[in-house]
Amino acid sequence: MNKMIGYLIFLPLFILLACFAFGQPPAKPQLADTPPMGWNSWKKFGCKIDEILIRETADAFVSSGMRDAGYVYVNIDDCWMAKERDAQGDLQPDPVRFPNGIKALSDYVHAKGLKLGVYSSAGTKTCEGLPASLDHEDADARKFAEWGVDYLKYDNCNNLNRPAPPRYRAMAEALKKTGRPIVFSICEWGSNKPWEWASEVGGYLWRTTGDISDNWQSMTRLLDKQVGLEKYSKQNAWNDPDMLEVGNGSMTDAEYRAHFGLWALLNAPLIAGNDIRSMTPVIKDILMNRDVIAVDQDWGGKQGFKLRADGRSEVWIKPMSDGSRAVILLNRGGSDEPVSIAVTPQELGLPNVSKYRVKNLWTKETKTITKELRAVLTAHNSAMYIVSSSQK
Ligand code: GLA
Repeated sequence: MNKMIGYLIFLPLFILLACFAFGQPPAKPQLADTPPMGWNSWKKFGCKIDEILIRETADAFVSSGMRDAGYVYVNIDDCWMAKERDAQGDLQPDPVRFPNGIKALSDYVHAKGLKLGVYSSAGTKTCEGLPASLDHEDADARKFAEWGVDYLKYDNCNNLNRPAPPRYRAMAEALKKTGRPIVFSICEWGSNKPWEWASEVGGYLWRTTGDISDNWQSMTRLLDKQVGLEKYSKQNAWNDPDMLEVGNGSMTDAEYRAHFGLWALLNAPLIAGNDIRSMTPVIKDILMNRDVIAVDQDWGGKQGFKLRADGRSEVWIKPMSDGSRAVILLNRGGSDEPVSIAVTPQELGLPNVSKYRVKNLWTKETKTITKELRAVLTAHNSAMYIVSSSQK
């Protein structure tokens, strides 16, 4: 009988404790289980933005097929805000360029099954000298939530040299307090090793570098800075090597293919930076290559990384969740002579079997290999594959 009473008292207590231990809500809502995909106004349009551009871009997400390929966030970068805060001290949109306000835009974007992002800085002013959110975190976060914003890119200009982690934490906490799920994108340029603290303060992604430019040197310089950061990347905590320049006109199609493939292999956020209202068929094919996007969105427990470099020949790989490997063979360039680049299944860490299935993600060609995967590539060309030991 005593035993019975004991059970009656301790069982509910045990269940309660178990719920407490295992049922704890996660530290931050899981808004970015896969790297965010979308578009950002900065690279192509700078401060020349208005609500018409944003609406037309949302329309183009749908008509071009970008939305169906997985692109969701329509992100307005710097210059959406008026030069002064309003009489209540709140941020307000530029009355000339955004006369109908941000809420009207978010309603428009949401009706298309898309999400809206805005921008501010963990400083007194944005990089373009407009009002920003340092010491206004709660009020500004409340406005963003009230306007139906889904994503905040939070920059680092005019930060009064105050330490970065508390400046970013303050906004993350303020966003959380609003109760609205808002992806918090930390744009601190990699200055204070954000990979070590950005997730813990509430960021879902963090820029690892300064700004990208539309040329091969810039893209590969940023690429080099990703080496070694793979261990910091996980779900809801992604390394961000900056947005995509694909389609902005100063790189060749082959270079854009390499850029897109490498960003996907790195589980980078895929944030298009071009004018998606007027894409050529080639650019569409790059940005909407489902196989490459699938590599980006697959979380096999590890971000892709550089396996080895041999002069201008590089091999990048990423373990996929089904046990296969995504592989990029890359000719960094330096001479016009083509180079032959190869990798073995053993180097890829695949099990020892007699043959391996290979799919080329750009040409869609499939083949079987036994000992090595090899491609002959001219300068700035890449080949991207999935290599699998399974024959299915
Ligand atoms: C910084 C950021 C860019 C962009 C501009 C806007 O340079 O790194 O991505 O947001 O500010 O002013």
